[in-house]
Amino acid sequence: MKLLVTGGAGFIGSNFVQYVLDHYPDDRVVVLDKLTYAGNLDNLLRVQDSGRCSFYQGDINDEALVERLVPGVDAVLNFAAETHVDRSILDASAFIQTDVRGTWVLLEAARRHGTSRFVQISTDEVYGHVPQGSSREDDKLAPRSPYAASKAGAELLVQASWVTYGLPSLITRGANTIGPYQYPEKAVPLFATNALDGQPLPIYGDGRQRRDWLYVDDHCAAIDLVLRRGAPGEAYNVGAGNERENLDVARTILALLGKPESLLQFVADRPGHDRRYCLDSTRLRALGWAPRHDFQAAMERTVAWYQRNEWWWRKLKTGEYLEYYRRNYEQRHALLRSS
Ligand code: NAD
Ligand code: DAU
Repeated sequence: MKLLVTGGAGFIGSNFVQYVLDHYPDDRVVVLDKLTYAGNLDNLLRVQDSGRCSFYQGDINDEALVERLVPGVDAVLNFAAETHVDRSILDASAFIQTDVRGTWVLLEAARRHGTSRFVQISTDEVYGHVPQGSSREDDKLAPRSPYAASKAGAELLVQASWVTYGLPSLITRGANTIGPYQYPEKAVPLFATNALDGQPLPIYGDGRQRRDWLYVDDHCAAIDLVLRRGAPGEAYNVGAGNERENLDVARTILALLGKPESLLQFVADRPGHDRRYCLDSTRLRALGWAPRHDFQAAMERTVAWYQRNEWWWRKLKTGEYLEYYRRNYEQRHALLRSS
């Protein structure tokens, strides 16, 4: 197969490119990535000698470029997105442009060229806060952050393309993913790299929010299975059942790195913070998927990678990152002082 992977220089996209090249010696991959602050060619260094991966820097909103790349591919996998909830709270415009409009540009090109599979990489956040039980694919979408709303909007366009035009599209809704090459604004790489530097780990609110932690290889295996065996028109939850409170996550990282719990620093909460996500992945398991990493294994592998790969993350924690860090966290400290 020849795959177009948008967002392939990001965290999950680049791991997926490697997954495909490792598992399918005859497959080829075309990566389209804008290289935003979160896109990074270092993430693709490991596949550059394969001879089976080509890279185009560009925007999924660029209709002319998309029109050139879609003909001749067997499938489009749309990983490209603005992905950080806190940034969407500060300014959502890029989220609407990329996550919603950009998805429509890709869908329309895939429809025009009769692409045989379109896989939209979505998120458990589209279900919103889940106080009890677990979300099933037919539950209503109730997104609460601007990021989650933009991903839900994209999903509705994907469904409309299937229902109205018969474009064979599928949706995956993944849980919180961790592993190598994740930009250090997200909680786990941020906590790990701060801890390595002896810096505080900022814990939003009471730290009792719950997420289901999924190792990136397990997420990639699930997306690959949905691509090859999923039923068009369906959505598939991808959750490993590794539910933990954020405080447990931060404490696990400190323990793995031999750092003191005095580094935990409570700061003002994220506005509209979803306290819990939890997925029922029965539909995906029926296709033959099972996660290979429990919580401890996923955390150990992830933390060890950041410990060994300072070359990768050190240069990211400069410039724009520091400016964002100040905007996001100074405000949180100020709110905490005034409450
Ligand atoms: P990421 O932020 O690491 O990577 C996103 C990539 O998309 C970057 O390489 C960026 O340059 C690229 N991009 C952004 N705007 C673009 C545009 N307009 N045109 C082309 N490329 C563009 O994100 P990630 O964590 O790897 O997430 C990948 C996908 O998986 C996203 O769709 C996200 O919503 C979804 N997802 C992520 C998680 C998670 O925990 N990280 C969980 C479930 C679903
Ligand atoms: O659930 C899937 C989603 O997981 C993806 O769709 C998103 O793209 C991805 O960013 C992630 O969203 P979250 O908001 O859950 O992830 P984040 O790593 O930002 O935060 C995880 C939890 O940790 C969340 O409850 C907020 C909390 N947190 C986060 C940061 C950055 C903190 O307590 N302190 C922090 O500094």
